[in-house]
Amino acid sequence: MASPSLVLVLAAGEGTRMRSQTPKVLHPVLGRPMLGHVLHAASALNPEHTIVVTGSGRVEVEEWLSYAWPHVVAIEQAERRGTGHAVRVALEAFSERVQNLTGDVVVLTGDTPLLTGDALEKLFNEHHASGAATTVLTATLDNPNGYGRIVRDADGDVVGIVEHKDATSAELLISEINSGMYVFSVEPLRAALAQLTTTNSQGEEYLTDVLAIQRSAGFRVTASVLESAVEILGVNDRSQLADATRIMQSRINRTWMLAGVTITDPQSTWIETEAVIARDVTILPGCHIQGKTAIAEGAVVGPDSTLQDCTVDEGASVVRSHALGAHIGKEASVGPFSFLRPGAELHEKAKAGAYVEIKNSVIGRGSKVPHLSYVGDATIGTGSNIGAATVFVNYDGVQKHHTIVGDGVRIGSDTMLVAPVSIGDGAYTAAGSVITDDVPAGAMGVGRARQRNILGWVRHKRPGSASDKAAAQSNEDQETE
Ligand code: UD1
Ligand code: CA
Repeated sequence: MASPSLVLVLAAGEGTRMRSQTPKVLHPVLGRPMLGHVLHAASALNPEHTIVVTGSGRVEVEEWLSYAWPHVVAIEQAERRGTGHAVRVALEAFSERVQNLTGDVVVLTGDTPLLTGDALEKLFNEHHASGAATTVLTATLDNPNGYGRIVRDADGDVVGIVEHKDATSAELLISEINSGMYVFSVEPLRAALAQLTTTNSQGEEYLTDVLAIQRSAGFRVTASVLESAVEILGVNDRSQLADATRIMQSRINRTWMLAGVTITDPQSTWIETEAVIARDVTILPGCHIQGKTAIAEGAVVGPDSTLQDCTVDEGASVVRSHALGAHIGKEASVGPFSFLRPGAELHEKAKAGAYVEIKNSVIGRGSKVPHLSYVGDATIGTGSNIGAATVFVNYDGVQKHHTIVGDGVRIGSDTMLVAPVSIGDGAYTAAGSVITDDVPAGAMGVGRARQRNILGWVRHKRPGSASDKAAAQSNEDQETE
């Protein structure tokens, strides 16, 4: 298949109705900015060059482009004087970089996140098959309000596009609308752009006028009609952003279900675009699979869990938990109600049970942190058990310090491991200890005051109380002498 010389994405508009500090085209739809979705769809055409026309929010858009799409060229449209002006300015600026641009230019807009490569391939192929100078992508809408209308002659040939604001009452009845996406042959496009005027209700250079200008000059212009208008849905406000996100959600979920993933409640499952999920993974209701998360075969995630930029290995399980930048090893288990932070690394069959927070720490094979603990900046060997309510005290208020726990260690409940500290292989710590010195292999570390009992204290200090009466009836009650 031939490919276009240039894809040009219009993204200079203000996006006022978003009411946002963030430029409209950078608002994400399931983890990818709208502009990213458009560029992604466009890459299916293998264009030689891609340009984004920037204006409002230019700095942010260009910064994002420079790391997400480094080969895409940003061209500024300093004054926004219409879609035709935008294309004209971009082509003029681009001709300084690439002389003698020939072939086809595909024009898209940056706020149509549901556009697919398939729709663009159909548009591009139809353009080639017809030999037209211009092919516009259209669809029929029940409510065409606000869109430009496709005007056809008695033979059904496209004669031009009339903007809603400039349409006659008869033209307003036309339900076939302009998506704002086109394929143009470069030469006739340049010629027509040079003839654009601003004599219309908005005082702008309309790209849409190119079609009528070309038609009068004897060129053929035509339309590629989409069966469903979903692909071209534009996002202008947050409500439409939510609509687009919902549609994207169901597309993504469907793709994974057809690939062999069980999703018990697709409506409450939000999988972002970059996630990768193997077959026979089960995702229970209420999950968010975000960023570059990868989930391997047989893992079960959910209900009610969030995984962001995580790697989950075969057969692992995550229940009602929140994990960011964590690696959950093969058959490891997390939750319910745990929080894994960046650098949390659970090896095979390791466990982070209930109410456990883990940051920047390795939990070795088969080691368990079953209840109510904080593990920060630690390396735990294999087959060790961290008793309930243990805290890895990693921060002295200035610096973070590391703790090492060996293999086969038993940390008693409610131990404070004050880093930097190291617990040797097979060692124990006594429950309730504050461990500030290293514990050698095989030793028992005890770091707590010895208990003493003050006999008869209640009789002296709380005479007549319920406790006193209970004590009096007990044959264990003894008086101190
Ligand atoms: C445009 C079309 C309309 C079509 C609709 C589809 C024209 C004249 N009208 O109308 O037929 O149905 O899109 O959504 O083209 N932009 C720039 N620079 C400018 C002006 C616009 O980059 O000077 C960008 C905007 O950021 C936006 C796109 O071009 O991404 C479309 O502009 P917009 O003002 O939204 O045009 P519409 O009135 O929606
Ligand atoms: Ca628009």
